[in-house]
Amino acid sequence: MDIQEKDDCNVALKLFRFEEKHEEDATSDAPSLTVSVPEILDPQYGMYVWPCAVVLAQYVWMHRDHVHGKTVLELGAGVSLPGIVAAKCGANLVLSDSAELPHCLDNCRRTCEANELCSVPVVGITWGRIAPELLLLPPLDFILGSDVFYEPKDFEDILVTVSFLLRRNPEAQFWTAYQERSSDWSIEALLHKWNLTCTDVPLENFHADKQHLASSALPGTHTIQMMIVCLKDTTSR
Ligand SMILES: C[S@@+](CC[C@H](N)C(=O)[O-])C[C@H]1O[C@@H](n2cnc3c(N)ncnc32)[C@H](O)[C@@H]1O
Repeated sequence: MDIQEKDDCNVALKLFRFEEKHEEDATSDAPSLTVSVPEILDPQYGMYVWPCAVVLAQYVWMHRDHVHGKTVLELGAGVSLPGIVAAKCGANLVLSDSAELPHCLDNCRRTCEANELCSVPVVGITWGRIAPELLLLPPLDFILGSDVFYEPKDFEDILVTVSFLLRRNPEAQFWTAYQERSSDWSIEALLHKWNLTCTDVPLENFHADKQHLASSALPGTHTIQMMIVCLKDTTSR
C-alpha cells in the first residue's frame, strides 16, 4: 500500500494494487487493477479502509467475471474499496452508507472521484430502516458489506436490510467480510429468524490467506472471515 500524497486537509491517498493470483507469480501482462482511496486521518468509522475491506475487495477481484455487467450495492461502504473494485471490473455500482452520516457519504463520493467514477450513485441507507432510498434501488445482483458486523446491537438491523433486499432480488447474494472480535458474537439465530443462510468461504480459496494483500499490510494478523449470505428457502421468494 503506497501513501501517495497527504494534503493540508488531512487526506492521504492510498493505493491498492490487485494482481492475478499471488503477487509474486504475476507476470507483466497479467491482469491487475490499482484503486486509489482517499482516507481522512480521523479515528471515526468509515473514514479509512478497514482490514476486512481489502479481503472483500480481493474476493470481488477474484470473481470479477461474476460482477461484470451486474448491479452491485455496497452497504456501510465508508471509503468504498470493495465497491470501487467491482465498478472497475465492470459492475454497475451503487454505494451507500448511513443516511445519518453525511461525512461518510462524502467519503464514498471522494473515492469515486479519485477513481474517475463520478457517475456512481451514492445513497443514504441506514440499516434496519425501510426508507424510500431502499425502495428506489434498481434490481440487484450482489450486495457487499465489509466490516459491517462490528457492533452487536446493529447485527439485526443489517440482516433486516439484507433480508429485505434479498426478498426483492431472490437470486442475489450478500458478500461480506467480517472480523472476529469476540467468540461470543454470533449471527446464526438472526440468520434463521430472517430466513437467511450463509456459506463460509475459506480465505485460501481466493488467495486472501496472507498478511499482505493488494500491496497492503492491512489484513495483517486480524482474524477476518468471508461469507456469502442468501435467502434460505425458495418458498419465501
Ligand atoms: C467499520 S466501518 C467499515 C467501513 C468500510 N466498509 C470498510 O470496511 O472500510 C462501518 C461502516 O458502517 C457505516 N455504518 C455505521 N452504522 C450504520 C448504519 N446504522 N447504517 C448504515 N451504515 C452504517 C459507517 O458509517 C462505516 O462506514
